[in-house]
Amino acid sequence: MAEVLTHKVVLDESEMPTRWYNIIPDLPSPPPPALHPGTLQPAGPEDFAPLFPMDLILQEVTTERFVDIPEEVQDVYRLWRPSPLYRAHRLEKALGTPARIYYKYEGVSPAGSHKPNTAVPQAYYNAKAGVRKLTTETGAGQWGTALAFACAQFGLECEVWQVGASYDAKPYRRIMIETFGGTVHRSPSELTKAGRDILAASGPDHPGSLGIAISEAVEIAAQHDDIRYALGSVLNHVLLHQTIIGEEALLQFAKLGEAPDVIVGCTGGGSNFGGLTFPFLREKMAGKMSPTIRAVEPASCPSLTRGVYAYDFGDTAGMTPLMKMHTLGHDFVPDPIHAGGLRYHGMSPLLSHIYELGLIEALAVPQSECFATAVQFARTEGILPAPEPTHAIAACVREALACKESGEEKVILTALCGHGHLDLAAYDAYLSGRMTDEDVTDERFAESISHIPVVPA
Ligand SMILES: Cc1ncc(COP(=O)(O)O)c(C=O)c1O
Repeated sequence: MAEVLTHKVVLDESEMPTRWYNIIPDLPSPPPPALHPGTLQPAGPEDFAPLFPMDLILQEVTTERFVDIPEEVQDVYRLWRPSPLYRAHRLEKALGTPARIYYKYEGVSPAGSHKPNTAVPQAYYNAKAGVRKLTTETGAGQWGTALAFACAQFGLECEVWQVGASYDAKPYRRIMIETFGGTVHRSPSELTKAGRDILAASGPDHPGSLGIAISEAVEIAAQHDDIRYALGSVLNHVLLHQTIIGEEALLQFAKLGEAPDVIVGCTGGGSNFGGLTFPFLREKMAGKMSPTIRAVEPASCPSLTRGVYAYDFGDTAGMTPLMKMHTLGHDFVPDPIHAGGLRYHGMSPLLSHIYELGLIEALAVPQSECFATAVQFARTEGILPAPEPTHAIAACVREALACKESGEEKVILTALCGHGHLDLAAYDAYLSGRMTDEDVTDERFAESISHIPVVPA
């Protein structure tokens, strides 16, 4: 008889964590504050008030270690949470590795990724504050889908600027957003000054970027009292909401009686990575486990590994407060790689600070290696990863092959933060040999890095 293997660890709905974890009080020092771009003084709640409701602004700066998840949010979470933790037995076998590979799968959500974990509370707090409509950007299409779904739960309108390259390649994402009740524009658009300025300079075929789409969504929200803006990554409150992923994974590892030796996740703005890893980092800082934690970014948009740590704008037009982060420069337009959610010039300031503290490592991987490992993953595990977490899988496979060389039986945990069912054009490009890896020169980074505002120390 074949050995009966356990493929996944599932938690009961009643075991779902009821608090988010805030890592800031546990760090040796807090991250540098955001600055008002005019005065260069720390930005206060009033600077964020045109964009966010007060509950979220308070979560952005909270010093509490844990924040209760409102019952209304828990109720929506339970539509798909707790999410499963899988053991990748078949991938391990194909690789011939003694490593034990686990992946926490967020593709079971309504959008197909981790994004609803923060979209739902953001829509909830905005609805509670009497907001009529939320504006946002979307790169992969996952965040726009998640916010449109969340707005539908709480009776809000939703208007989405979809990055041009993504809008052109992913019509089914637009249709999904519209099905949930949202409105979608190709960015850069004629609807905003930020969009018009870029179109005037470059013509209608501009591929867009997350930075440009953020400028457009922020511009509209800032002009109306009953419209607010929602960001799908980068900010402290977004990473806070995503920690439900890591809190669940800790419970699942406790059931297995194991602890990870290595954790890898992809980073665009840092939210799925922070969400999975911060609860493990808490346990590590408390001396209860000792995983190596590694962020993986695309070779063509490597903010942690090739950017500078400096105060910069979160958007291209320069409308946000200045944030200290690893950045390639706010006007850097990354090549239109398939992992649209990783095409962001900056990084979460909190994650950047944690990187500077030496608590995590980072590496950059080219997209063809990512898709080669994603295809192997699909053929063994049966899940087509979204283009973004193919980066995590590539790093996981590198680690597993290193274990094969060394004979180490490491436990590897990977953040499989979404499925790629609406990203099949990317798989088609890979399978038909049309996928290329652009080599981004230091000169190109130097150009955009030279436009970062000068902030006296
Ligand atoms: C599936 C998926 N993974 C990762 C990301 C990157 O964002 P973050 O680094 O905040 O998780 C995105 C962003 O759109 C995404 O859609």
